[in-house]
Amino acid sequence: MEKAAIKQKIQTLREELEHHNYRYYVLSQPEIEDYEFDMKMKELEKLEAENPEFFDANSPTQRVGSDLNKEFQQVEHRYPMLSLSNAYSEGELRDFDQRIRKLTDQSFEYVCELKFDGTSISLQYKNGELQQAITRGDGVRGDDVTVNVRTIRSIPLKLKGENIPEEIEIRGEILLPFAVFDRLNAEREKEGEALFANPRNAASGTLKLQNSSEVAKRKLDSYLYYLLGESLPSDGHFENLQAAARWGCKISEHSRKCATIDEVIAFCREWDEKRHGLPVATDGVVIKVNSLRLQQYLGFTAKSPRWAIAFKFKAEQVSTILQSVSYQVGRTGAVTPVANLEPVLLAGTTVKRASLHNADIIKNLGLHISDTVFVEKGGEIIPKIVGVDTSSRHPMAQAVLFIKNCPECDTPLVRNEGEAAFYCPNDAGCPPQIKGKMEHFISRKAMNIDGLGEETIDLFYNQGMIRNIADIYELKKEEISQLERLGDKSAERILKSLEESKNVPFERVLFALGIRFVGETVAKILANKLINIETIQSASVEELTNIDEIGGRIAESVYNYFRNEENLQLIERLKAHGLQFELNETSLQNRSEKLNGLLIIISGTFEQYSRDELKKMIEQNGGKNVSSISKNTSYLLAGNNIGPSKLEKAQKLEIPIISEEEFLKMLE
Ligand code: IVH
Repeated sequence: MEKAAIKQKIQTLREELEHHNYRYYVLSQPEIEDYEFDMKMKELEKLEAENPEFFDANSPTQRVGSDLNKEFQQVEHRYPMLSLSNAYSEGELRDFDQRIRKLTDQSFEYVCELKFDGTSISLQYKNGELQQAITRGDGVRGDDVTVNVRTIRSIPLKLKGENIPEEIEIRGEILLPFAVFDRLNAEREKEGEALFANPRNAASGTLKLQNSSEVAKRKLDSYLYYLLGESLPSDGHFENLQAAARWGCKISEHSRKCATIDEVIAFCREWDEKRHGLPVATDGVVIKVNSLRLQQYLGFTAKSPRWAIAFKFKAEQVSTILQSVSYQVGRTGAVTPVANLEPVLLAGTTVKRASLHNADIIKNLGLHISDTVFVEKGGEIIPKIVGVDTSSRHPMAQAVLFIKNCPECDTPLVRNEGEAAFYCPNDAGCPPQIKGKMEHFISRKAMNIDGLGEETIDLFYNQGMIRNIADIYELKKEEISQLERLGDKSAERILKSLEESKNVPFERVLFALGIRFVGETVAKILANKLINIETIQSASVEELTNIDEIGGRIAESVYNYFRNEENLQLIERLKAHGLQFELNETSLQNRSEKLNGLLIIISGTFEQYSRDELKKMIEQNGGKNVSSISKNTSYLLAGNNIGPSKLEKAQKLEIPIISEEEFLKMLE
């Protein structure tokens, strides 16, 4: 075949396959047999492999993903991803309606939509092609997860049809259907892997997987519900969603236009019942003003639009039997009680366990084994026990008494004054603590050691190859590659990332040590203030508490850590391996006290530096980057496209507004 003909053939196959994807995954109305589809796919794969010059990231063949993904890039959202304000009662819905009617005399309509409980996504389309898919992140910037989103069959890689704006952003929710969730967890249980708490977590966890071919296997779904852009087809939100449906997007068929708040309330009541029959999780109804012109007129508060509200369904409750209580020991030695329940269906998933948090909660509930308990799943991840039906308790039932010794190493537990948790103090000899510390050490935000994961640490530990974090640096290639499941390649990868971790900056090494109460932020503060490990080691509790933001609890924990001989030996060994135990040259040179004590808020986009870089500069020079404006804020560092409400608030509180240039001058 001639090149032009091949190109044409590839094009036709791509269009056909996308059409059948759409029929199957968006409309649930397939036109052809799976076999026929697979044959066409094979044909396209072959043509693409033979003609790599026609590669297209948006080809249907790419929906199977690859295992080459690197860490996700952080990208700034074009329009910040705000949240919605909530209403928990019909009265609050009426208040919302009144607020709007006070602001306008016009007649208007609402659109009621289901509030899907997954993970939100922003899709950028340019000339109809999917360019970028970004997670919500902190609302201002999110992770670029395009490679993973391409594997979701209900998300069009190319929009089809007419009147597609040149540039458009479409937002929606990525979901894992209940049926897939249950299957996934059943598999994980069989493999002895940690279970996902709910479909929402499973969906967001899946979207962040490093290996997109794994994502493809998980069968995520989507509903899109919000269009943004300069040239949308209509003034009506509802009408725009209909247009998006014509372009191939999956839009909920249950959305409804309502003329009055009574109709809105009726919709909410109706779906509070009907939602139990849906294949995906919903946690409420979103009510939006339909007209975009009116939306614009009503505008936004700092956090959410004035033209929309989320009506939250009441958390579902069920009763079941408490079978037993088990205890888990975490990396810091904290012991968490977990209730084992007779399996029961709650909000679409089977619940077998509930967190009991600490001894006080058990005592306050007055729990007895075999009690009938009420379990609720609210916004939080893990279901909790909210009450006990004492009337059905057996007279001989045994009260649940918190254990006295560590379930893993039998050491007597201790409880520090003023703290709710019991701890196992045997941090150097208690297996889950040792393993937990090593897992924390290698994690992405700490030393980021690629190739080592929880399972590998487990394996090395069980084989007696490692007993602490310094041992990790003494692993030999032969030792690793002789293990089943690992080979030469994995061994090389592990050793390479161990080598690379020697460049990880001091503040992250400090965080990686796993000192109790020293999280990322505290580690940063300590590193920036005290510069090297020796100064931190010799600092007194008083010297530590004198540092801004370091309280007594943290200071004592840091002080005690360095009074433990084993910890000191560990640090000496890590030093000998070449890890960073002081701020590096550039951080040192860039340090000053010029912004000492200043609280600076960053907003908008900048010309010379990214927001992260500006944040770092503020911190290195003694200032603090804060996220919301108050009367204590010292400066608003304003870039382009800064939100009008933020500017307004700064002006009202008379907070000086500075540009990037002025900020850089302050540091000169
Ligand atoms: S509209 C500016 N519509 O709820 C408002 N959001 O608390 C844009 N959500 O982060 C959101 N279903 O992830 C909208 N039909 C729906 C939704 C929905 C679920 C989520 C979304 C958002 C959160 C808001």
